[in-house]
Formats: sequence, structure tokens, C-alpha cells
Amino acid sequence: MRILLVADIHGNRPALEAIREPYDVALFLGDAVEYGVEPAPCIDWVRKRCAYSVRGNHDHGTAHDVPRPPVTQHGFKYLTGPTRALTRERISEADRRTLAGWPLTQFLTLDGVRIMMVHATPRDPLDEYAPPDVNFWARRLEGIDVDVICVGHTHRPYALEVGKTLVINPGSVGLQREGDPRGSYAVLSGRDYELKRFEYPVAEAVAAVEAAPLADEVKHLLTGAYRDGQLPNGKASPGPSKP
Ligand SMILES: [Fe+2]
Repeated sequence: MRILLVADIHGNRPALEAIREPYDVALFLGDAVEYGVEPAPCIDWVRKRCAYSVRGNHDHGTAHDVPRPPVTQHGFKYLTGPTRALTRERISEADRRTLAGWPLTQFLTLDGVRIMMVHATPRDPLDEYAPPDVNFWARRLEGIDVDVICVGHTHRPYALEVGKTLVINPGSVGLQREGDPRGSYAVLSGRDYELKRFEYPVAEAVAAVEAAPLADEVKHLLTGAYRDGQLPNGKASPGPSKP
């Protein structure tokens, strides 16, 4: 069984639609929305294709209009405010209910493999930044008896063997922060995995941002991130807490 893992789409429809991977089951690990300007088709894609989904911090923020970070923030944190307003304008009430309805965690067994899904970590399902660190994950997995834990949030693909558990993070489909503009996802087959990068029509995502009613600074940051895989002008250091 090929299990497709997707996370952190962030409203980037051209990236999402460029995934050409055969799969039997798709799992979504949170953050369908915010930053990118085409949230509705991304929510719809997840609703139609992903058998199981969990809520990300940005899905939660949009669904409940959580107070936005102050505009004095830099980098990606700064972008959350203006793009949340646009996201809320561009989704329907049914879309909002879909975001709010995704659970924080899911436990499932596929092909005999026991899987936990969570956007960030079991301790803090929405917000905690989990580095690719065995000791960090060993503490987070205490008392959790699964074969594989699938996570997102960091926008950094990685896989770690932590005791008897595989920790896998497919990286981000739609918003890169480490200098590689390609999207990423993962495929899980039993306990085997592949972390994959894919090209997508970046110009289409840039054009959608340019056409959106956003401030010039917001457009500059977003389109720079799409083109270069990181925020322009050294602003790619928003701290690790809100990817
Ligand atoms: Fe994210």
C-alpha cells in the first residue's frame, strides 16, 4: 500500500495540483491555508482526496479567527495577519467548518502499520516546533505506542528512527523556507518511506499573488519565497515557532 503524506499546502494551488504520485491512501497533516491566496481549492483537494486529515495551526487560526500576530513581527509571522484576512474572505462557511472539523490527532492502522497523525507534536498538536532530533522525539513519544508518527509544521522534510517508531515529516507542499523552491511530500509503504521533491509552475503561484488584494510588501515576501524557496532580503529568520 502506497500512502501519500502531504502537509503545509498553505493555499498554493499550483503546487498542490502538480503532485503526480500514485497512491492508495492520502493523509493530510495540516495547514491547508494562509500565506498562499487560493485556499478554497486546496481545502477542496484535501476534502476529496485525503482519507484522514488533521488540523494545522493555520487551519485553526483561519477557522476560529484567532487573534493575529502583531504586524511588528517579521518574516512568515508577519505574513499570517494579512493573508488570514484574505483567506477568510476567499473560503465559504462550509470550508471554514471543514477546517474547524479536522481533529488535532488521528490514530489509524493501515496494512497492519499503526500510525499517529498530528500537525506539530503529541505534546502540543498545533504549535510546537519539532526539530529532526532523536532525543527530542524520544521524549515526545513516551507513552505513545505506534509504528509511525506522521507530522508536518516545520516545512522541513525529515525521517527519524526513534526506538521502534518512525517519525516522518513530508515537508511543505506549498511554502518553502530552506532555499529549495520545489515542493515536497512523502510516500510511506509499510515502514519504508521516500521523501520526494517536485517542480511546479511557480510563475502561476506568483501571478495569483500579484493579482490578489494584498500590500506590496506582502506580495514581495510571498513571491520571493515562491521563487527562491525562502523569504527575500534576509527576512527568512522568523524564529521556529510558527511555520
Ligand atoms: Fe505550516
